[in-house]
Amino acid sequence: MKISNFSCLSQSQTPLVDCLKSLSQQPDAAFYAPGHKKGQGIASNLTDILGNSVFKVDLPELPQLDNLFAPEGVIKEAQHLAAELFGAQQTWFLINGSTCGIIAAILATCKTGDKIILPRNIHQSAIAGLILSGAIPIFINPEYDSQQDLAYSITSVSLKQTLQQHPDTKAVMVLYPTYQGVGGDLAAIAQITHQYDIPLLVDEAHGAHFAFHPDLPPSALSLGADLTVQSTHKVLSAMTQASMLHLQGNRIAPSRISQALQLLQSTSPNYILLASLDAARQQMALSGDRLMNQTLELAAIARKQLSAIPGISCLELIPSPGFSYLDPTRLTVNVTQLGLTGYEADEILDQQLGVTAELPLLKHLTFIISLGNTTEDINQLVNAFKTLSLSPSPFIHFSPTPLFSLAPLSLSPREAFFATSETIAIKKSSGRICAELICPYPPGIPILMPGEIITSEAIDYLQTVLTLGGKISGCSDPNLTTIQVIN
Ligand SMILES: Cc1ncc(COP(=O)(O)O)c(C=O)c1O
Repeated sequence: MKISNFSCLSQSQTPLVDCLKSLSQQPDAAFYAPGHKKGQGIASNLTDILGNSVFKVDLPELPQLDNLFAPEGVIKEAQHLAAELFGAQQTWFLINGSTCGIIAAILATCKTGDKIILPRNIHQSAIAGLILSGAIPIFINPEYDSQQDLAYSITSVSLKQTLQQHPDTKAVMVLYPTYQGVGGDLAAIAQITHQYDIPLLVDEAHGAHFAFHPDLPPSALSLGADLTVQSTHKVLSAMTQASMLHLQGNRIAPSRISQALQLLQSTSPNYILLASLDAARQQMALSGDRLMNQTLELAAIARKQLSAIPGISCLELIPSPGFSYLDPTRLTVNVTQLGLTGYEADEILDQQLGVTAELPLLKHLTFIISLGNTTEDINQLVNAFKTLSLSPSPFIHFSPTPLFSLAPLSLSPREAFFATSETIAIKKSSGRICAELICPYPPGIPILMPGEIITSEAIDYLQTVLTLGGKISGCSDPNLTTIQVIN
């Protein structure tokens, strides 16, 4: 189905959902993939959990369903409606999470040897973008709150200085907001970036809801971002892996985004994920205000009641460099006064009190409150913390997260990824060049990346995380007794 203009489309429509529905109702003898043929051949233990209907819409790129990589039908319509609602000139639906959108943003703007400025607390997907593109990272340390032991945003002042030192930079990428919902002064960051006529790319994985309520931080597009990537699945109602990339202005050619995404996404996109983006967009268009009001109310109740519990404190907005906005729907609870690590508190909450956090860290637990939460969830959260606070242990003191070393990389992430490496004892690795991308996961922010000099502080920190119950990804030795270094 080809369409020539969008004038007859409205936000109450769901072109992709409707097309899937009507195809699922048309009987046919299916000689196309997937092999389960609309559920007829699916394993019964899966239908026991999922029922049959989900498989009837697990369809391939049938002519009516358009083509994700050359959209001219229902996908084009659905993406157009999303662009209109989120305030973009063009929107791409992503079926491989914000991960592939962030990599595509780097591939579309930087070639091998080009410089890109990034905060050092960037998500690992950006490092993957550096490895694939061959771009040279110029890292800026984010503002760091030593009392909270949390990293926030970079500042416009540090960006200005870095751009003066590297005026040949080709793009700036920032994290807005952080996992804890903290946003920096993005408008000022955009203004300085644009003085060099280069694009501002934003990892807005945790901010897909921002455009829908004035009490939330402003969206990245409204503050001047050229490109932003949002995990629609993290905070709105799309299914896991379903994300969006939005573009505005003329600093990035849309064709480069399409080419990059073609390299990164499956040629068999899952239509259930795509339809979930279409449905989430319609839901926000029709009920976004009500849903965000309700979510903000629940979050405010939770924040107030948690803050009244002895030994518990929630992260609050205290405007300071790197901290201009706080998403009120993100609750970050410090548990150190209870004498617990975030990991220990997480285990007790999850296994004994039926409450599961999004992100445990050494000192904190972060909870996402979204349109899916109920008053009962909030009551359970508050009661669980009341129980947890009844038997505090002695206060514990942790060494803080190491401030990242910003010594220039000895090798670019790409060169290091392809260089020959060897495995050595981790205790002998300080001063060597790392060959691995090592992150506590979540949050997936690398403590060491390929090409970076290993420091004793980084090793101590990773070992502390592991000893205290955190999970580390990317290290070939899960016990961290050995590490891969460049020969
Ligand atoms: C800050 C940040 N950026 C990007 C991503 C990647 O998002 P996705 O899971 O949608 O691929 C994540 C995932 O946790 C994240 O926390």
